[in-house]
Amino acid sequence: MFKKKLLVMLSTVTMTALALTGVHAQSKTTLHIFLGSVGAIDKDKAQVQAFMDANPNIDVQIVLAPQSATDILGVIQQDMAAKSSDIDVYQYDTIWPGILADNLVDLTPAIKSSNIDTSVYYPRLFNNDNVGGKQVGMPWFTDAGILYYRTDLLKKYGFDHPPATLTEMASMAATIQAGERKGGNADFWGFVFQGNAYEGLTCDALEWQYSNGGGLIVEPDGTIDVNNPKAIAAIDQAAKWIGTIAPPGVTSYQEEDARGVFQAGNAAFMRNWPYAYILGQGGADGTASTKVKGLFDVEPLPAGDAGHGAAALGGWQLGVSAYSQHIPEAEKLIFFLTNPEQEKWRALNESELPTVKAAYSDPDIAKQIPFIAKLVPVFENASPRPSTVTGAKYNDVSVAYFNAVHDVLTGKTDAKTSFANLAIKLKGILGSNFKIGPVPTEMAPAAATMAATTGS
Ligand code: GLC
Repeated sequence: MFKKKLLVMLSTVTMTALALTGVHAQSKTTLHIFLGSVGAIDKDKAQVQAFMDANPNIDVQIVLAPQSATDILGVIQQDMAAKSSDIDVYQYDTIWPGILADNLVDLTPAIKSSNIDTSVYYPRLFNNDNVGGKQVGMPWFTDAGILYYRTDLLKKYGFDHPPATLTEMASMAATIQAGERKGGNADFWGFVFQGNAYEGLTCDALEWQYSNGGGLIVEPDGTIDVNNPKAIAAIDQAAKWIGTIAPPGVTSYQEEDARGVFQAGNAAFMRNWPYAYILGQGGADGTASTKVKGLFDVEPLPAGDAGHGAAALGGWQLGVSAYSQHIPEAEKLIFFLTNPEQEKWRALNESELPTVKAAYSDPDIAKQIPFIAKLVPVFENASPRPSTVTGAKYNDVSVAYFNAVHDVLTGKTDAKTSFANLAIKLKGILGSNFKIGPVPTEMAPAAATMAATTGS
């Protein structure tokens, strides 16, 4: 009798437990992560799947961002202005912590309670996501502009080294282009890059400008540094490439357009980010379509008059929306994706640069992506865009800059006129704590008036 009662009791407990488990399973949390759409998106999906496998109570839906960084910022800002809880985790650009900080969660308490060892990251990358003491993101991968070049074609045309200067690159590009066209490839071009009017052009043009000794657009001390002979010469030089060694359409190219031409075997040189490397080699699983597998290598970008090349510092962070209704789960997802094993996986499968220091001496990474170890100094010394000094105004500065450069590339004006006007525009955006830097002796009238009236 007692046994029977006990059995009934036990089965009631079991059923209640099952019912509870059922309730628990139904209350699965769904997170939405806003991810970039440039490069190997299937690999991002695999990483998210690995997280779901390890966390069966969390479902993660990927929402794909537009390709242009400028457009991505627009979408994020719109969401945030509406205090939308649709997206829990944002992938956002290295230049935006200052712009987005107010709408992102401070991860500091979760970093502590989850025992995340933040000393594994490069301090400058980790600290870039700290705004006024608030840790608004975790660095996911870093980026730096690099030069891709066709090893087979350099050899074919008698060049025994990659170009050391931009002038040398332009001359090699012209020779190879002429030869390949004569050989029957009418679609062949010497050089492709990111020439569309968007954030990518700010990166490319900053590289030309800085490697020519023309400054960093806005210096860390607040000097507006565009209206100077070196910067002007750098942009005029780039304008001469259009239609000669670079396709006229390059003024509407973004990263994927340039990669498309290079991967189809139709360019001798390409400026791009590291992600294009593994795809050019057919991808980690060899499924990406490519005509350049085994036929290219990468090097630091060639030097301008400054005597050194310059790589723009890029990279992406993961942050939690302040309006998320699932903050702890979202934090968990971020800590998973940025942990050292996942960063290694990403390096091996997507040739993205880890933000974890130890990855740069990892033998597996060195074997699969040899350039990562070879170009460490380039990544470590990459030139930041002026996002720290301009803070929340960075995007306005960048938009003014890439439009001014784009006007020159598309032949609407010359760099001297465009950058004289740009200096004034930037001063208007940035205000009285910023001053226009030394202007060329032969100033455009508007800049001269400005310098005279502001004393800058
Ligand atoms: C890359 C960089 C990013 C940059 C963007 C420009 O994604 O990582 O920092 O803003 O390119 O197109």
